[in-house]
Amino acid sequence: MVSKFGNRFLISTDRSSLVLRIDGIGKLLTDYYGRKLTGLLDDDHLGIDYPFPQGTSVVYSPDYWNHNLSLVKSEIATMGKGDYFSPSVILSDDRTQVFDFVYDSYRIQEPEPIDGFPTPHGASQELVIVMAERQTHARLSLHYVVYESEDVIGRYAEIINDSDLPLAVKKLSSLQLGLTNDGYRIIGLTGSWANELNRNATKLVPGKFVLSSNTGFSSNRANPCFALASSHADFTHGDVYGFNLVFSGNHEESVEMDTNQNIRVQVGYNPLLTEIVLAKSKSFVTPMAVMAYAEDGLNGLAHRFQSFVNDCVIPPYFKNRERPIAYNNWEATGFDFNDGKIKKLMKKAKDLGIELFVLDDGWFGNRDNDSQGLGDWQCNEKKIKGGLKGLSDYAHGLGMTFGIWMEPEMVNKNSKLYQSHPDWIVKDVDHQPCPGRNQYVLDLSRTEVQDFVYQSVKSVLDSAKIEFLKWDCNRPLSDYPRSGSFFLDYFKGLYRVLDRLTKAYPTVLFENCASGGNRYDLGMLSYFPQSWMSDDTDSFQRELIQYGGMLGYPQSTFSNHVAAKTSMQMLRKTSLDAKFDVAAFGVLGYELDLNDLSPIDQATLSAQISYYKAHRALFQFGILSVIESYEDGNVFSVQVHRGDEWMIGRYGAIQLANPKLSYLKALDVDPNAIYAYASRQESIPLSKFGSHINSVTPIHVNPDGMALAWLMKNKDMKSEIDQGHAYGASLLSQGPALSVEWNGTGYSDKIRLEGDFGGRIYHLIQSSKSTHLS
Ligand code: DGJ
Repeated sequence: MVSKFGNRFLISTDRSSLVLRIDGIGKLLTDYYGRKLTGLLDDDHLGIDYPFPQGTSVVYSPDYWNHNLSLVKSEIATMGKGDYFSPSVILSDDRTQVFDFVYDSYRIQEPEPIDGFPTPHGASQELVIVMAERQTHARLSLHYVVYESEDVIGRYAEIINDSDLPLAVKKLSSLQLGLTNDGYRIIGLTGSWANELNRNATKLVPGKFVLSSNTGFSSNRANPCFALASSHADFTHGDVYGFNLVFSGNHEESVEMDTNQNIRVQVGYNPLLTEIVLAKSKSFVTPMAVMAYAEDGLNGLAHRFQSFVNDCVIPPYFKNRERPIAYNNWEATGFDFNDGKIKKLMKKAKDLGIELFVLDDGWFGNRDNDSQGLGDWQCNEKKIKGGLKGLSDYAHGLGMTFGIWMEPEMVNKNSKLYQSHPDWIVKDVDHQPCPGRNQYVLDLSRTEVQDFVYQSVKSVLDSAKIEFLKWDCNRPLSDYPRSGSFFLDYFKGLYRVLDRLTKAYPTVLFENCASGGNRYDLGMLSYFPQSWMSDDTDSFQRELIQYGGMLGYPQSTFSNHVAAKTSMQMLRKTSLDAKFDVAAFGVLGYELDLNDLSPIDQATLSAQISYYKAHRALFQFGILSVIESYEDGNVFSVQVHRGDEWMIGRYGAIQLANPKLSYLKALDVDPNAIYAYASRQESIPLSKFGSHINSVTPIHVNPDGMALAWLMKNKDMKSEIDQGHAYGASLLSQGPALSVEWNGTGYSDKIRLEGDFGGRIYHLIQSSKSTHLS
């Protein structure tokens, strides 16, 4: 809801308000962003002007001798008129690089799509404030897009050249917001391959903190999502602001604070090597940044962003649509497969209850390793007799759906595509382009390349019944052509292709992937409802990745696979159930070699799959919160909550000797209601007990020997079951005690043996006293 009160605008969502003010010289200022205001008062003094300029400051003009632009909370900042924060807008033409925008007009309109960039849907209103340059060189429109029930405000900017001279746009942030420091910590999501989305907090000090990518893609180095949390904020309480960008390319987010503790937040594309030159009357528009305010801590912020992504970002067809449990053959086979091997895996997957079979890399061209074949999207019928159709028919005959892997933006030199179009790759004039994973990037800024990519994907999707497509992208950009718009044009081209494809195949479930999470952002999620979060399938590593991701994204976007017991990336061994405990909080899948499963393993996986199917909507679409994090101790705990049901995942890092007692905690429960709770019983491999196994065997068994290995195929130990009832009040403050953790002195069904990097899932349901869960 947008209202105008004199020289102020009140932009409100269900639970937040942003107040903007046009000051005496026509500058647009942030007066307030916080809890919802039901209105504005004449004397509410939300913003205040400094009565005197500070020493060494430059005043705006002799008529406004007390106005120093460095001291106001501007919604845009240019250079040259006394604002010494970093500018959000940098322009120049042949005559000047000083630009001075003042309020011109406003309009309230139906939200409109942004030309060239994905635009989240479901907005209720859009306020456009037009700022005009004092010497009429240009006009700058600031768009505020209101996502009322999600408590999110989108902002983007558009500049129009009003002068006869060409206007160079060297920087144009989508968003600038002014705040005053409240002991803020900046919580960012940084990382690398196999180690994405590390949540880390930095106390804000005077200076400038920047999160950015210049890899060409949004990157695993720094996600565009970040939060500012006040000193008293924790997971459930306190003021938190969150920001993100609906864009998949280079981005830059900065938080700058001066010694007066004035803060400017900026979010936008990264201006590095980007300069747009506008002829007279031409305009340039940015992607949309989004922001949310929460008074209920980091979980509160996460809940707003979760519902925003589920309701307004992902394609509407997939809103609340339950996702299938997938099997992906990559970690089982790599490139080494044929149709017989795949069909065998399909049959085994089906027997376990898996619903979708995804054939990963290696099915096309001469793609027997990663140095060849990319770009030749015809099925290799020597490898796969009967082609994709044969495999798809087989999967459907078994009662499964069928999916395929592609990496459409890339090419290997050893391919027919490269031989026919060597000029299609991204390259500058005379340097030899750098390879990455032996491949090169197709220049999606070119229309003929966009058409090729569209047709390649179309021909694959038309060649068989294919319900799922994993879209991979395994290297960043390099050797860019000398064009000031290249980093934006690449994505405008990609988005054009994705828009055409998702309109032509609206029911195909696309999975985003870039060597895991190297391009996990709101731009890609606008077309692809879920994302392969990391190439690291180790469950402890995934706990950390999911913890980071849940700051700004819902678990319906997390594609999580249970992989082999010994992680291929970490060589860390954890049980199949420990892996499920983590993977279940998202879209579940499997990626291990099903031929290696013992009868006990098969039973374990079948039980996991049945459990997940019984609670799938809760796991995929429940409201996700953090209960405890490793920042505070040895326990990480999360919950999903939907209606009167909860699932709680409770994990430990390194096992401690003589551990303290543990209790089951939950959030968002009614203190006066009664809840039934029950842990999911797990399979504990006999090898976990080491030499203790001899206390129950009639003859001596070597814990590292063949006999135990054989026994373990058919026999396991079952974990404790913790179940009972609890008042909500107890769950909120202490919770019921859980079985005592293993402490080396004895084992029974009253002992909880999790070991290093283990965990449990607990189901909680509001109930009358008589309800029992199992
Ligand atoms: C990188 C992906 O992240 C993996 O899951 C797998 O699809 C490989 N590419 C295939 O080349």
